[in-house]
Amino acid sequence: MTRSSVLLVLLQVSSLHLLALATPTCSLEGDLVQEAHRLLRDLGGLFPIHCLPYRANISFPDSAFPTAKANHVQCRRALWVVYESLQGAEQVFEDHELPVGGGGASWDHEKLSRFRHLQHRLLDKGSCLSRDHSGVLSSYFSNVTTVLQQQGSAACGWTSLRRDLLWVLESALDQQPTCFTWRHAH
Ligand SMILES: *[C@@H]1O[C@H](CO)[C@@H](O)[C@H](O)[C@H]1NC(C)=O
Ligand SMILES: *[C@@H]1O[C@H](CO)[C@@H](O)[C@H](O)[C@H]1NC(C)=O
Repeated sequence: MTRSSVLLVLLQVSSLHLLALATPTCSLEGDLVQEAHRLLRDLGGLFPIHCLPYRANISFPDSAFPTAKANHVQCRRALWVVYESLQGAEQVFEDHELPVGGGGASWDHEKLSRFRHLQHRLLDKGSCLSRDHSGVLSSYFSNVTTVLQQQGSAACGWTSLRRDLLWVLESALDQQPTCFTWRHAH
C-alpha cells in the first residue's frame, strides 16, 4: 500500500467514525440498568408489612409505562420512564437523608454507593432522553417527598421508592429488552 492510499483509508475510517459520533442512538445501556437493578434488589431487607398502608400515598403510575410491543415510540416512552424515575430518585437522594434506624438504615452501604454511581452514569449518558412530560411522574415524586418528610413514615417512603424503582427497571428490562443497547447480542 502506498502512503497516500494508507492516508485515504485512514481518512475514510475517521469520517465513518465521525458519522457514528454525529448520529448517536439515544438509548440506555441494558447492562448498566441490569446491574443497577441487581444492586438495588440486593441492598437488603424485604418490604416491611407496616409500610403497606402507604401504598395509598405512594403508588407509581403504572400506566406511564408502555405495555405494547417495542416500536420506536414505545421504546422512547419506556426509556423515558426509566430515565425520569432515576432522575426523580436522584433528586430525592440529594434532598433527603436516609433515616437512621429502620428502612434505609439497614441497606448495604457499599451496594448503595455502587447503585448511586451507576445511577449517575445512566443519567449522564441518557440525558438525551429527557423531555418535558411534566406531570406524569411529578405527583408520584411529590407524594414520595411528603411521606419522606414525616418522621414516622420516612423509612416507609424510602422502601416504597426502592420497591417502585425496582419495578420500573425490571419491567423495562423484561418487557422491552430490545429498547436498550447491549454490549453483547442479547
Ligand atoms: C398522591 O397522594 C394522593 C393523596 O394521598 C393520592 O390520592 C394520589 O393517588 C397519590 N398519587 C400518587 C401518584 O401516588
Ligand atoms: C397518607 O394518606 C392518607 C390519606 O390520604 C393521609 O391521611 C396521610 O396523612 C398520608 N400520610 C402521609 C405520611 O403523607
